[in-house]
Amino acid sequence: MAQIVGIIQTKGGAGRSTLATNLAAHFSFRDPTTLIDCDLPQATSSSWYTLRQAELSSKTLLLATAHNHLELIQRAKEHTADSKYLIIDGPPRLAEMTRAIMILSDLCLIPIGASAAEIWSTTDLLQTLEEARSYKPDVDARLVWTRFRAQTREAQELKDAVQKGLRFKDLQSRLGYRVAFSEALARGLSVEESSDRSAHAEMMGLAEEIEGILVEKKR
Ligand SMILES: Nc1ncnc2c1ncn2[C@@H]1O[C@H](COP(=O)(O)OP(=O)(O)O)[C@@H](O)[C@H]1O
Ligand SMILES: [Mg+2]
Repeated sequence: MAQIVGIIQTKGGAGRSTLATNLAAHFSFRDPTTLIDCDLPQATSSSWYTLRQAELSSKTLLLATAHNHLELIQRAKEHTADSKYLIIDGPPRLAEMTRAIMILSDLCLIPIGASAAEIWSTTDLLQTLEEARSYKPDVDARLVWTRFRAQTREAQELKDAVQKGLRFKDLQSRLGYRVAFSEALARGLSVEESSDRSAHAEMMGLAEEIEGILVEKKR
């Protein structure tokens, strides 16, 4: 039975596909993993996958696509036996799909940049979260800070404000603002395969934190 990690965020360009592709690559280094692209027709994860497979032909990383929540439920069912992990790249806005991702996933991740606009958009998710919790009370959705500029006061202040004001937990590991993330995405790679050691270390730390949470959930 696969464990499912869903990446959601109503704001476009928040870093969902970056997180989804890097996590999918990370998990597929060791275990069969399926990346489910639900952000169509944008299809960032699908394009990344096509580039990657042309180079690497990985046997442990599969791609599926879903245009709506019914297709998503079907794809998840199909791949739960052949994969150890399903990583779902969610669309911006579509509440039905986002709600389905929340219900299906063992862990939902919400990438968020430390900017006021992204924090406001995250409050939209609270309504969808409440709806999802009426079907599945233990929906676990946590923020992942990305494009984080640790040295700026604004980032720190916004992070503190969110921790106080929003009802989401956050992961300890964060991703910084690094060119390696956009370069890797454009080349079908993970930052763990790039030469940027800081990006590599951040991604590995984040993926290990997520693996730890998933192990706890299996107990
Ligand atoms: N941590 C980061 N540092 C620098 N650029 C990033 C980072 N995360 C995402 N990006 C870039 O921001 C853009 C949007 O990211 P993407 O993952 O496609 O967002 P979404 O899937 O939420 O629309 C892409 O060009 C991506 O390369
Ligand atoms: Mg995307």
